[in-house]
Amino acid sequence: MKITVIGTGYVGLVNGAGLADLGNEVTCLDIDDEKISQLNAGKIPIYEPELESVVKKNKKNGRLKFTTNSKEAIEQSSIIYICVGTPTSGNDKSADMSYIFSAAKDIGTYINDYKIIINKSTVPVGTADQVKRIIKENQTNDSEFVVVSCPEFLKEGTAVNDFRNPDRIVIGVDDKKAKEILTELYKPFETLNKPILFCNVRSAEMIKYASNAMLATRISFMNELSALCEKLNADVKMVSKGMGLDSRIGSKFLQAGLGYGGSCFPKDARALVHMMRENECSSGILEAVDSANERQKTRALPKIKKLIDDLEGKTICILGLAFKPETDDIREAPSLVLINQLVKEGAKVTAYDPVASENIKKAIKYDNLKITNDPYSAADGSHGIILVTEWNEFKELDYKRIQKSMKTACFVDCRNLLDPEEMRKMGFIYSSIGRP
Ligand code: UGA
Repeated sequence: MKITVIGTGYVGLVNGAGLADLGNEVTCLDIDDEKISQLNAGKIPIYEPELESVVKKNKKNGRLKFTTNSKEAIEQSSIIYICVGTPTSGNDKSADMSYIFSAAKDIGTYINDYKIIINKSTVPVGTADQVKRIIKENQTNDSEFVVVSCPEFLKEGTAVNDFRNPDRIVIGVDDKKAKEILTELYKPFETLNKPILFCNVRSAEMIKYASNAMLATRISFMNELSALCEKLNADVKMVSKGMGLDSRIGSKFLQAGLGYGGSCFPKDARALVHMMRENECSSGILEAVDSANERQKTRALPKIKKLIDDLEGKTICILGLAFKPETDDIREAPSLVLINQLVKEGAKVTAYDPVASENIKKAIKYDNLKITNDPYSAADGSHGIILVTEWNEFKELDYKRIQKSMKTACFVDCRNLLDPEEMRKMGFIYSSIGRP
């Protein structure tokens, strides 16, 4: 099928490349000239494992193209995905819909025959109706079209694999002909026995927010529980394991840490609160989830201060800056909060991340912040280490060497990545989250 994908962020690029890989002819459209030139030159603007090879392969075989020409891209395809960003906006924390509306306006301006518009961006319930209205308002002919909601569930860092192996595909469609075409488009997943749930448009829009909000709720619940575990000498890792063995609960997204970050959970939980308030429904649970998360991001500081009482002039090494492993994304990353806190305390910060360093350098500049190219130089001469992101490579470091290179071997493991006993045996004064 001929498909256009509007927006070449994580969602757009992974979907565009994935759909091309399934044999479709895909054009990715973006207003950002620089991004499109990079993609045309074979460079991927984001770090996402496996994405580069899928993009290259499909670019080479001619199934994947990149352009800034809205007219051509919209005219040539019968299926158009909207995959643009919906950042949090203003004091009310609602979703900023300007990119969605501008995409809808372009579609309305250039629509030339029957098209299915599939919205993949995370948008408030009812957006499909607004998109429909905007397309109609800008239409100069009577081409028919249908607006569908097909929310995205891929995770940064495993997005390509998530595209190929989705837990489920949700398609909100209120039109019979569009449903038949989409059944055909998603046939490869049906063949792989991946569940495809057809529902009405508004339910699909709600499923997306509800899923992210539920996952965020699990994490905040475990994070609050971790503080109680510390007080009562229980081990939150064991608690989450024991809970997860109950098939009604399941084991995923129960890891306590330094709070969730990224472009999705914080934004979507807040947007759902906004929707609840707007519709005069109570939003207490999600408000608490959000505030518990903000609190959790500040929990590393008291922990390191417990080990080093005066941070003034001391060097603290941070391992991991990205909001989670396998990504260079630092949006809403706990590391940003921690760096600010440490600098305020008068500490010098040395930090290392396998891929997110450049983004941190662009985001914050302090005389007292030094980003290094390897974990050993970050730790060298420091008074304490705070492990913030659980990159796999941090499991394999030579901690004996690190311990010897430090001025005082204090260690706060904010992701419970390492074995407390082994770390203590090596001479670290070790503390973690929610463990005795
Ligand atoms: C999330 C959802 O998992 C995806 O299904 C969804 O498509 C995506 O948002 C989106 O809406 O676009 P993502 O933000 O990429 O994906 O990352 P996750 O792997 O879900 O992690 C989110 C945050 O939760 C990270 O900061 C991570 O460290 C934290 N987390 C995760 C925990 O603190 N504990 C856990 O047990 C799991």
